[in-house]
Amino acid sequence: MTSVKPVEQAKQHAAQKVALPPRKHVLDLDDFSPEEISQILETAGVLAEVLNRPISKVPALRGKTILTLFLEPSTRTRASFERAAKALSADIINLSGSDSSAKKGESLIDTARTMQAMGANIIIMRHSMSGAPYLLAQHTDLSVINAGDGWHAHPSQALLDLYTMREKFGKVAGLKVVIVGDVLHSRVARSNIWGLRKMGADVTLSAPPTLLPEETLEAYSGELPGRLSIEFDLDKAVEGADVVMALRIQRERLATEGSMNLRDYIIAYQVNDERMHKAKPTAMLMHPGPMNEGVEVSHGLAYGDRSLVETQVKNGVAVRMALLYRLVGASGVAA
Ligand code: CP
Repeated sequence: MTSVKPVEQAKQHAAQKVALPPRKHVLDLDDFSPEEISQILETAGVLAEVLNRPISKVPALRGKTILTLFLEPSTRTRASFERAAKALSADIINLSGSDSSAKKGESLIDTARTMQAMGANIIIMRHSMSGAPYLLAQHTDLSVINAGDGWHAHPSQALLDLYTMREKFGKVAGLKVVIVGDVLHSRVARSNIWGLRKMGADVTLSAPPTLLPEETLEAYSGELPGRLSIEFDLDKAVEGADVVMALRIQRERLATEGSMNLRDYIIAYQVNDERMHKAKPTAMLMHPGPMNEGVEVSHGLAYGDRSLVETQVKNGVAVRMALLYRLVGASGVAA
């Protein structure tokens, strides 16, 4: 095993900054201060170096046990947390809906308590029901990380998006970020609205009215450094944007929820070269994935020069390392 320098650096770095209260859970970004978000992004920057080493592993979380419980499909989030946990030398147990006793009717709380009895320190969970991670935070002693609950929140995705913007533009404050697509059903959008506004970015939401309810603004109407606005016309929304973040469109929902048909959606809301040209010359495309190329983004754009899509995935590992370290490293309550 190679030197632990980045971990020592992360520890020293955190000590030099404002002392943060211990954190047990990561459920959404609504209870994160801008200082805590900044520290997590800075820790991620330090820990990212570990991933570039020939042996990309440090012993920071040796002896800790992390459980992933994904009761909805995932490619990126689950693999990224697993990679992050292994890079910090934690032991990891992966459970899914199809291989746990949830299939036989075991309750979520029973599954979590069973894993707690086996010595798990953290549960990273994805669930189709909004609020499910809060239930486990209340009814178990585990540290809970929300890896996506229904339409509600996906805090680690929002943090990696913030990290990616900060890395690309050198700052988040003052950026104009357009989030376009199915905002109604998007946990990524909701967590990003918190994170971006807390860090001083202005957020504009753009979607057909049926996928962008007015309550979206009301629910996030509190005083925060960054502004939140709605612009139904995407061509106007993207003018002067630094980032255009496209969300996945679930084809079946367009018709069933009376929004518009797929062809009309593509004409009005697809992010394509023409629309990226209306944004700033330095503007970048982001997408949390999974992506429907040819629907919410035109073919080729996501893997071109104006895209951060693959960078987001890469950065997700370091950001999740920083989150795990925050919970069970030196300053975490579960340490
Ligand atoms: N962005 C995201 O949550 O992707 P997965 O569903 O693949 O985890």
